[in-house]
Amino acid sequence: MSIEIESFLHLYDRHQVEQKAHLEIEWQKVSCPRSEQIMEYEALSQTGETKVLQKLAVLKVNGGLGTSMELSGAKGALEVQHKLSFIDLAIQQIEQLNSKEGLDVPLLFMTSFNTEEDTKRIVKKYIKQPIRISVFNQSRYPRLDIDESLPIAHPKQDSQQAWYPPGHGDLYGALVRSGMLNTLLSQGKEYLFVSNSDNLGATVDPRILNHMDSTQSEFVMEVTDKTKADIKGGTLVDYDGTIRLLELAQIPLQHVEEFTSAKNFRIFNTNNLWIHLPALKRVMERGEMQLDIIANHKIVNGGQTVLQLETAAGAAIKHFKNARGLNVPRSRFLPVKTCSDLLLVRSDLFKVEGGSLVTNEHRMFATVPLIKLGDHFKNISQFQKRFRQVPSIVDLDHLTVSGDVYFGRNVTLRGTVIIIANEGQVVHIPDGCVLENRLISGNLTA
Ligand code: UTP
Repeated sequence: MSIEIESFLHLYDRHQVEQKAHLEIEWQKVSCPRSEQIMEYEALSQTGETKVLQKLAVLKVNGGLGTSMELSGAKGALEVQHKLSFIDLAIQQIEQLNSKEGLDVPLLFMTSFNTEEDTKRIVKKYIKQPIRISVFNQSRYPRLDIDESLPIAHPKQDSQQAWYPPGHGDLYGALVRSGMLNTLLSQGKEYLFVSNSDNLGATVDPRILNHMDSTQSEFVMEVTDKTKADIKGGTLVDYDGTIRLLELAQIPLQHVEEFTSAKNFRIFNTNNLWIHLPALKRVMERGEMQLDIIANHKIVNGGQTVLQLETAAGAAIKHFKNARGLNVPRSRFLPVKTCSDLLLVRSDLFKVEGGSLVTNEHRMFATVPLIKLGDHFKNISQFQKRFRQVPSIVDLDHLTVSGDVYFGRNVTLRGTVIIIANEGQVVHIPDGCVLENRLISGNLTA
């Protein structure tokens, strides 16, 4: 039996046992994290010392498909700016760091059967560059029919539909199986900085690593203050004395409101994780890595409900010594979940410097505009069709677009702009149009 199937069966058995025993979170054991469990970024020493970066490797988790944008390839391969994708930018960030500091920080991409091809195609461009890039695959588990608990049949037209990548928590097993963990250790690497491939705010920060190194912390999770939009994010709690990541799906129904309230749990997980590699090896060798199982129900093949058992990387925090959350500025969490987020990062609000997104100096406000694109802009192909060119939004506060709307070239949006095409109407914003504090409903006449 392959190691992959063995680990799938192990996860499945655990799920069965937990279900039978009705094992769930005991809410009376949950409390707000203690002050020493969550540190403030501002409290870290200001040291700009970069020697510690010699011990670092960087990893981007890039196995997901970006289902929220209905992508069929790797989200990391999406173009952000100047024909550069998230993957290109991640590579440029590390290249820049290495050449500036005289370092040799290796960059790793974890891919899945869904994203390997796209990722390797981009990585190939850098083969002659002086940067060590490795691509390794996470597991592929079978989707189970919800009623029969059996793997679903392979639909002829798309056999990939029968499989899924089991969440970014698969990272730890994949590092061991691929031999990457041992390779990194043999290269003298002691720390791994993990982040989502679409989070351009997740740059290498020597302040965090110096703190980890000097306090012998084995695991640091970057968290940030919740806004209304983040209430569904996983949060760190004190669970019977141990720091632990809880996801919304794990919370008993009657406590969901308490859990999502920013008053009780004011931070959420950014999935920027700093991990001590020898400690990871210890945890893996002792077979201690038991991540909370997230049972995900999905509809595939036009109506079949399947069960996917998944795990989250941050859940590993409970297994490490001296582990803590670090409350970082929001700028370290710049994810692209929806096409509204994509509009932001593709716009003139940002420019790329050394692989990082930097806010345009002409922006007058510290915050980014609030953008709400309606259902017509939900999937990526509609988004590309409806924006012939991304408008200039440096002076925008708020944009709402609803209905069948198309944008021409060289459009400028300022202040608050609301564009509504009612049922049966189509709104075309013409080339060169400047809209400032405007409400447009129906056809644009001015
Ligand atoms: P998420 O699944 O949390 O969010 O993945 P997402 O990428 O925005 O996808 P959708 O739109 O909700 O489906 C967070 C990060 O983890 C990676 C993804 O590629 C992304 O970088 N990931 C996710 C994996 O590497 N493997 C997985 O099995 C799942």
